[in-house]
Amino acid sequence: MKLFGVRFAVGISLFLLASSAVVLTAETAHLSIDVSKTGAKIDRNIFGQFAENLGHGLYEGIWVGPDSPIPNTRGIRNDVVSALRDLKVPNVRWPGGCFADQYHWRKGIGPRDKRPATVNSAWGDVIDTNAFGTDEFMDFIQQIGSTPYVSINLGSGTPQEASEWLEYMTAAAPTALAKERAANGHPEPYKVGFLGIGNESWDCGGAMTADYYVSQMKVYSRFVLNMNPAQRGKEQMLKIAVGPGTPDTEWTEAVMKAWKKHTWAWDIDGVSLHWYTVPNGWPPSTPSEKFGLDEYAKSLKSTLFMDEFLRKQEAVMDKYDPEKKVTLSVDEWGAWHAPLSGSNPAFLVQQNSIRDAILASLNLNIFARHGDRVRMANIAQMINVLQAMILTDKEKMVLTPTYFVFKMYVPFQDATFIPVTFDAGSYTHGGVTLPRVDAIAAKGADGKVLIEITNIDAENPVTIDVDLTGIKANSAKAETLTAPTVDGINTFESPHTVVPRETAVKIHEGKVSLTAEPRSVTVVSIEQ
Ligand code: AHR
Repeated sequence: MKLFGVRFAVGISLFLLASSAVVLTAETAHLSIDVSKTGAKIDRNIFGQFAENLGHGLYEGIWVGPDSPIPNTRGIRNDVVSALRDLKVPNVRWPGGCFADQYHWRKGIGPRDKRPATVNSAWGDVIDTNAFGTDEFMDFIQQIGSTPYVSINLGSGTPQEASEWLEYMTAAAPTALAKERAANGHPEPYKVGFLGIGNESWDCGGAMTADYYVSQMKVYSRFVLNMNPAQRGKEQMLKIAVGPGTPDTEWTEAVMKAWKKHTWAWDIDGVSLHWYTVPNGWPPSTPSEKFGLDEYAKSLKSTLFMDEFLRKQEAVMDKYDPEKKVTLSVDEWGAWHAPLSGSNPAFLVQQNSIRDAILASLNLNIFARHGDRVRMANIAQMINVLQAMILTDKEKMVLTPTYFVFKMYVPFQDATFIPVTFDAGSYTHGGVTLPRVDAIAAKGADGKVLIEITNIDAENPVTIDVDLTGIKANSAKAETLTAPTVDGINTFESPHTVVPRETAVKIHEGKVSLTAEPRSVTVVSIEQ
């Protein structure tokens, strides 16, 4: 990001001799923020989530059914809804993922006892009762106060099937499909905020070439009509085309080249990008629990590649779209670790530690710095799958460290980016060198100045000094998330090991200072 001036100067360690022991004091990181120099908006949609029909993501994680002893509203777990409402989740991508290109929406509407059982061949060949279909998803979206991001089936479906799905969801006029929706209990048309046209069409979505995908995508884009009158103009549905999953730019080139010449008959508003943090390559083998500093450093090094990946794709997009009309939507990202032992490997179950929380903050900061192009992102995935916000086990629920990062970042939703200049310093472990600190700043919708500081250093605190220009700081509050060790997690038995806690922050003569704990994420909120 052009406005982001990082000088990677190595900080100087100060050693103090105390008695006979050598005590390492905190490094200092100086940050400068000029509040009058603002950048792009940090679109709230970069805090989007992904809920695929995979493992226990939907079934058990969200859907328990109306007859379950687990407290629910129309079959949707109340504990999960209440936790997600606090995150102000801007959008939820559903039903996949790879699953989207084998999903036939008609099997998931109407009386649930009449819905056919199908096989989820994308994820473990398990029986899918289709109990959680379109109307249940929309109910969930309404309960958590979010916006639907629906992925249509371009791999094994047809343009007609996709077009009818849109009609079922959005038609206000009394068409046969609108009447069917009303008969299913939903007379009002739904609003569909985002529509994904296929998923990973270069791989699980149909192993297509870029050119073949583009010709298919144009047809789908032409016929998926949002008929909801409330979505004409400002709240228009945005169509997202499949984009790359590897850093090479051939796919993006093909999609953007086609978009440059698009006619009235079709259009797209975004190109997706999928990239997971898989430090040892495929299949994922990094442990998600009981690991040490080596795994910590490797994972964070690997995740920082996101910045370069985005730059490469953005260079191509800038060539065809210098006005940045088309969004780069990172609609799958996060840590993909080895499956937990004893779990079904097709269910992608993993633990979630402070390492993953830090990994999340680094990615969110990257997206914020790329805010003029990256206006949407979806962490994979919401519940019980990959880097989840929430883990459940029957009636039990626990909030993960990643959940708390998303909660701490809520004030950044739709805030205005402010460039931060700082010496990142460096932290080296096991031959892996990382920046010691990362930071972003923004002006929130309520006028508060927000600063996020990630201390990547797993072993040492960092003293943070912030020079603020263009604001007279009156008071400040700070919250920090850390854990006793890099593999610190929350469990059903001990759910409060890794939770945000208030931390001391001082304001003196326009400077803000605090101590960032080792391996921590801190958000400071300053009032003028
Ligand atoms: O999130 C799990 C899977 O990862 C998705 O289904 C697919 O799109 C990606 O490869």
